[in-house]
Amino acid sequence: MDTIFLESVTKRYRADIGRTEKTVLDNLSFCVKEGTVFGFLGPNGAGKSTTIKILLDFIRPDSGRVLINGVSPDCHEVRKGIGYMSEKPCAYVNMTIMELLSFRASVTGAGKRRGKGYADELLEKTGLVEHKNRPLKKFSKGMLQRASLALALVHDPKILILDEPLSGLDPLMRYEVIGLLRDLKEEGKTIFLSSHILNDIEKVCDEIAILNNGRILFVGRIDDVSIHEGLEEFFVKTLMGLQ
Ligand SMILES: Nc1ncnc2c1ncn2[C@@H]1O[C@H](COP(=O)(O)OP(=O)(O)O)[C@@H](O)[C@H]1O
Ligand SMILES: [Mg+2]
Repeated sequence: MDTIFLESVTKRYRADIGRTEKTVLDNLSFCVKEGTVFGFLGPNGAGKSTTIKILLDFIRPDSGRVLINGVSPDCHEVRKGIGYMSEKPCAYVNMTIMELLSFRASVTGAGKRRGKGYADELLEKTGLVEHKNRPLKKFSKGMLQRASLALALVHDPKILILDEPLSGLDPLMRYEVIGLLRDLKEEGKTIFLSSHILNDIEKVCDEIAILNNGRILFVGRIDDVSIHEGLEEFFVKTLMGLQ
C-alpha cells in the first residue's frame, strides 16, 4: 500500500467574484512509497502548496481521489501520524522554541509519552540548543526553518509533509537540513517535500515529480535522472518541453 496516493486530482480557483475559474491542479496522479523521500519540484505558482493543503485536508479537490495510508486525509487517526511544516513558518514570534515545543508536546500527548528530555533531543537534532530560550522574533530565517521542523517532529509522526523546507537557507544550512532529512529517512519516515531549489535535492530524494502550471510533467526515480545529466538541467529542459 502506498503511503500517499493521488489519482486524477483537480482543483480550480476563482480569483475574484465573476472572474472565470483557473485550473490550479490539473488531473494530478502520483504515489509515494513508505520510507521514501519524494521531492515535489516546480517553479513558484506551480501548485505545490495547493497539493500539500489537499494532502492535509485543509482544502478539498474539485475531483479526484486522495488516500494517506489507504484512507481519506479527513480521518483523525491519519492526521495524527503526519508532521507538517508550512511554507510560512512559526507565527507565535514572542514565544521561545522551548515554550512552543512544550506546548505542542502537551497538546499532542507526546510529552507524557516520551518524557522530559524529548524536547532537548529535538533541539539537539535541529541545532537549536543554544537558542532555546530566545523568542522566535529574534531568529534568522534558517533558525525559523529549523524551529518549524522541530515542531513538525514533536509527536514523532511517521509521515512528514514539508513545504519548501530549504527556501531562504544559505548553502551550509541547506546542507544541515538535508542531513537532518537523511537521518529522518534512516529512522523510517516517509518524507514528502516541495521545493524550487534543486541544489542538494538529489542527495536526499528517492523519487521526484516535476510540476508546472498545475500539471505533472515528470514522475520518476532520481537515479534515472542524475545518471544522464544534472537535476537542474533536467528540470529546466522538462519545463521548456525539451525532454
Ligand atoms: N486561495 C486561492 N485563491 C485563488 N488562487 C489561488 C489560491 N491559492 C493559490 N492560488 C493560485 O494557485 C496557483 C498555485 O499556487 P501554489 O499552490 O501556492 O503554488 P506553489 O506553492 O507551487 O508556489 C497560483 O497561481 C496561485 O495564485
Ligand atoms: Mg508554495
